[in-house]
Amino acid sequence: MIKKGQKIPNETLVNFVDGEIAKQSIHEILKGKNAVIFALPGAYTPTCSATHLPGYSEKFDELATLGIDFIGCLSVNDAFVMESWKKQLGARQEIVMLCDGNGDFSEKLGMLVNKRDLGFGLRSWRYAMHVQNLVVQKVFCEDKNTPGDPFEVSDAQTMVKYLTTG
Ligand code: BEZ
Repeated sequence: MIKKGQKIPNETLVNFVDGEIAKQSIHEILKGKNAVIFALPGAYTPTCSATHLPGYSEKFDELATLGIDFIGCLSVNDAFVMESWKKQLGARQEIVMLCDGNGDFSEKLGMLVNKRDLGFGLRSWRYAMHVQNLVVQKVFCEDKNTPGDPFEVSDAQTMVKYLTTG
């Protein structure tokens, strides 16, 4: 699993860019940025829709005040689904949907998990990380030994607290 101090691996994502589907390398996206990325098991799923994405949307301005200049929402979903979900929730437009449809980036991060029991196939584990110019500063990873879909540490409020107090 990716850890503090490591450079994030490079991978190609297929995102919506200016209304069009486009390939983008994650290094190209995050180079020089003071970024927060939160990752979740799926667009339109209950906790992700009720709390995880809305939480980061609500805290967008507070995170910006704390020096964050990029917030990305990562999921193993395609760009059409991710963009439609963001619109449906009325989330902040500035949040960039990072669409790891094939799961390759999540796999390189050690965050790809098997959710076949739910009919989801391979998905991202739920976590959040602070990445400065491609180097990981902090990972808030939900406990992989807890069954189901724990959501205790990867929320926006925890990220705000960490950025405020270190
Ligand atoms: C949820 O976000 O609530 C959820 C995620 C994955 C599977 C089931 C539910």
